[in-house]
Amino acid sequence: MSQKALFLKKALGPFVVASAPIPKPGPGQVSIKVISAALNPVDWKIQAFDFGVKYPAIIGADIAGDVEEIGEGVQGFSKGDKVFCQGSFVNEMAGFQQYASNPAEIVGKIPSNIDYAQASSIPAGFTTAAIGIMSKNGLALNPSFDANVSFSGKPAFVYGGSSSVGQYAVQVFRLLGFSTIITYSSARHTDFLKSLGATHVIDRAEVSVDNLAEVVKKFANAPIENAFNAIGDDGSRAACFDSLAEGGKLADVNSQAKDKDGKKVFTIFGSPHAPQNKEFGRILWKHLPGLVQDGTIVPNRVEKLPNGLAGIDDGLKKMKANQVSGVKLIAFPQETV
Ligand SMILES: NC(=O)c1ccc[n+]([C@@H]2O[C@H](COP(=O)([O-])OP(=O)(O)OC[C@H]3O[C@@H](n4cnc5c(N)ncnc54)[C@H](OP(=O)(O)O)[C@@H]3O)[C@@H](O)[C@H]2O)c1
Repeated sequence: MSQKALFLKKALGPFVVASAPIPKPGPGQVSIKVISAALNPVDWKIQAFDFGVKYPAIIGADIAGDVEEIGEGVQGFSKGDKVFCQGSFVNEMAGFQQYASNPAEIVGKIPSNIDYAQASSIPAGFTTAAIGIMSKNGLALNPSFDANVSFSGKPAFVYGGSSSVGQYAVQVFRLLGFSTIITYSSARHTDFLKSLGATHVIDRAEVSVDNLAEVVKKFANAPIENAFNAIGDDGSRAACFDSLAEGGKLADVNSQAKDKDGKKVFTIFGSPHAPQNKEFGRILWKHLPGLVQDGTIVPNRVEKLPNGLAGIDDGLKKMKANQVSGVKLIAFPQETV
């Protein structure tokens, strides 16, 4: 049996829709009919810079769909369950195809208050924020998702709140009870970011990166001990370090980020498949569906792409050209002709 998948057949080559075998779930895995798959910046970066995959490669990190087949030893899932999960850049587990498999322990049932597209906007973005802020590989503020942990009275800063990861970072700080959550974004996202928990949204057009730390510190009710950089370039990191109090800690999406002036940086590898994140990933997936169902974690706003798997290329080009603002682009692999 074959399916359609979006391939990068060689390094730096084009995306091509072609046939691929339908993955069979291994022990402990389920296979999923992929209804929606979200796009992430790493997808265009892999094509442009060639890293992290074996060719011919299928990529795509965010999956929502229906359980198709259940592997040996899996309990708690039935064929047809609506599920979401974070894929991995191993062909069988990637999102840009019509069927994918994934370890069942990091698959969640889609809460009844969201649809497939919204569900697929959550896994990679939320996981990156949660690993950076909550896990032992990040700021370590709540590695066990303990509901009694609270940072009430404390301030936090998120650089790039309107990005997909930034929206989840704002929400994770809210989940942890931070009283003041300051973020930096285009002004058009202010109301939405406030609905997610931001207490102060600093307009990128009004305050330059060079003057940002001064403004952040003015809004903070106390010295800032924790910050999250969802953008990861040098300017954003400098603003984050300057906003932090002495001895403060920064979680950063850029793997090359380095400590500065006694302020520690935790670089994030935002995948529950990575050996160092496996334990936290299992805990995360036990809690995430419930947090979405009760409205504590809200999906990104979504923009639906046409043309099934073939439409992903145009979406990634928009993302690369910085033309995506505050929304997650979503493809629908079953609509591939
Ligand atoms: N380390 C990891 O494991 C990991 C995981 C996921 C993502 N990432 C990285 O994290 C970054 C964000 O990913 P994403 O999926 O969240 O991206 P995204 O949603 O596609 O990012 C687009 C958003 O970024 C904002 N933005 C761009 N440049 C900015 C700047 N200089 N200052 C403030 N905001 C800025 C834009 O804001 P406006 O609307 O205000 O223009 C836009 O809303 C990417 O570099 C990605 O590769 C890393």
